[in-house]
Amino acid sequence: MSLSSRALLALVALSSVSLAKEVGYFDSSSSCADPKGFATCYENADTTYSNCVNNNCAGGSESCYNSCGGSTSCMNEQCPGLGIDCINACECERSALQIDCAGQRCLVYSCEYQATTLDYLSFCLNPDRDGLPYWPTPDDAPDSCSCNTGQIEQKLYLITNQMDTCSNNQTNIGQMTDVDGITDYAQACICCSFSAIISAIWGTCPDTQPSLLAADEWFAGLLNPGHWEDCGPYLENYDCAGDLGFGRADAGGITEFYSPGNMRTNGTKSLYNLDGVVSTPVSGDVFTWTFASSLAHTVTVSSADATATGTKVSGGSDVTATGTGMSTATGTAESDVKPGVGSSLIVPSWTIASIFGILVLSTL
Ligand SMILES: *[C@@H]1O[C@H](CO)[C@@H](O)[C@H](O)[C@H]1NC(C)=O
Ligand SMILES: *[C@@H]1O[C@H](CO)[C@@H](O)[C@H](O)[C@H]1NC(C)=O
Repeated sequence: MSLSSRALLALVALSSVSLAKEVGYFDSSSSCADPKGFATCYENADTTYSNCVNNNCAGGSESCYNSCGGSTSCMNEQCPGLGIDCINACECERSALQIDCAGQRCLVYSCEYQATTLDYLSFCLNPDRDGLPYWPTPDDAPDSCSCNTGQIEQKLYLITNQMDTCSNNQTNIGQMTDVDGITDYAQACICCSFSAIISAIWGTCPDTQPSLLAADEWFAGLLNPGHWEDCGPYLENYDCAGDLGFGRADAGGITEFYSPGNMRTNGTKSLYNLDGVVSTPVSGDVFTWTFASSLAHTVTVSSADATATGTKVSGGSDVTATGTGMSTATGTAESDVKPGVGSSLIVPSWTIASIFGILVLSTL
């Protein structure tokens, strides 16, 4: 699913490039200061990416890169020797550079900026989440996206960690006297985490169409294979928020637990940028963030006429992160949703691996 849906996404994005100046997720003429500098910045990121693939990935060659127009899925199909992990590591670096480009010139609380950052989080293994600039969008930010997808992503991350923590909680397991009890408990950890995932998606942005928030992908990739439909009794018999820990702030802070027979109604709205005071970035503002723990990026925000002044400082090799295969959402967009903007919340493959680890445990 991961590659084909990503390719599909790329096609959708390409086919929609019309008169508007689309760069990455942005219509740079309306959401970014200095559209020209912004486009150049993205071109430079593309060059870095192509050099990264050609120089680092085994069997990489310029002809392969060129014949695929740089498309990851194409390269993985046509030149399998490259290795998807290596390509993802290069994608990780490129998306870090794109964050620099966007943070420097574009509306940093927009849906487009969020989508750019979500790409970074999906390509990079163990990204430094806390160091990301303008992330997640603060609650009362002006001209922000109608849905705080960063907040959803953060919750999903904490919930999937708690799924593991829960199934290894010795306080709970120690009280169990038989195998059935332990099996039941492991299943309850899974059901509570599924319910919490639903709560994070439906509850954070109740007005937004859940399919734009990767709900379908979470069902297809995790909840359906994990038999969510059988979770009702577990959710009745266990205290997800308290005993199983999912209510803790560092576990997602979920307070509402839906069950298969009791789901929240779907929102119907698309993702769009709220009206507000439309402000270009504050010129001269400087932010520094750390990419892959060894590479600090210092970026100076430019005004409409200014040129790019972003610099990379400090050492470290360029590609220190390795990526993993990802499933990518392919939500259908309404007219005011830019292609791909709503579609960057992904189901990380390690989540799926970890659930199947617990499932195996619970069937022993
Ligand atoms: C609500 O959204 C989910 C996720 O996209 C979808 O599977 C479900 O069919 C929708 N429910 C209704 C009643 O439309
Ligand atoms: C472990 O279980 C205890 C008792 O049910 C619970 O209070 C605690 O929050 C759990 N710990 C974690 C880390 O989830």
